[in-house]
Amino acid sequence: MKTVAIYPGTFDPLTTGHLDLILRACDIFANVIVAVADTDSSPKTPMFSAVERVAMIKQVTKDMPKVSVDSFSGLLVDYMRSRHATVALRGLRAISDFEYEFQLAQMNRKLYPEFEIVYMMPDERYTYISSSLVKQVASLGGDVSAFVPEEIRPKLMEKFIKKAM
Ligand code: COA
Repeated sequence: MKTVAIYPGTFDPLTTGHLDLILRACDIFANVIVAVADTDSSPKTPMFSAVERVAMIKQVTKDMPKVSVDSFSGLLVDYMRSRHATVALRGLRAISDFEYEFQLAQMNRKLYPEFEIVYMMPDERYTYISSSLVKQVASLGGDVSAFVPEEIRPKLMEKFIKKAM
């Protein structure tokens, strides 16, 4: 397949679940652009800046030639138009993700009629992982090595050590 897929998200931080999805997408798409939503594009207040999140994802995906990492602000559809892309990729972990994803898909299609969205399911080992839970576990001194790629673990620890000082 020749299509480029845009994988948008907050990625605060990227988890092993996100990484699993990126690896799966590489088997299907010619190129995968991981698009990190900057502060004005995400309803969340990220702990890591967009620059930090992009740098971390670049480090994790450095040996994946099909993957590039970028950040965007404003509407996702405007970013996709600027990259001449029509396909977005999202992960579905459980039924509870569906309602929000359904709204997101319909709204984006209204804004950009060419918009298509592909949902992929991460391995069942990752269905309970979310960036918020990972941050909570890390903030309370728990072991997050199974939940974030090894390159990200020290960055996460560093944030909480700085916060505690
Ligand atoms: N494995 C593990 N966790 C996963 C996952 C996977 N495969 N896929 C998603 N998640 C988790 C994330 O960690 C995150 O957890 P958190 O809520 O605890 O942080 C949650 O599921 C969903 O986050 P994420 O995938 O990062 O998406 P998001 O919902 O934060 O991103 C945007 C939403 C950025 C795509 C959306 O807000 C957007 O398009 N913004 C641009 C502005 C715009 O166009 N708005 C109009 C939209 S119609």
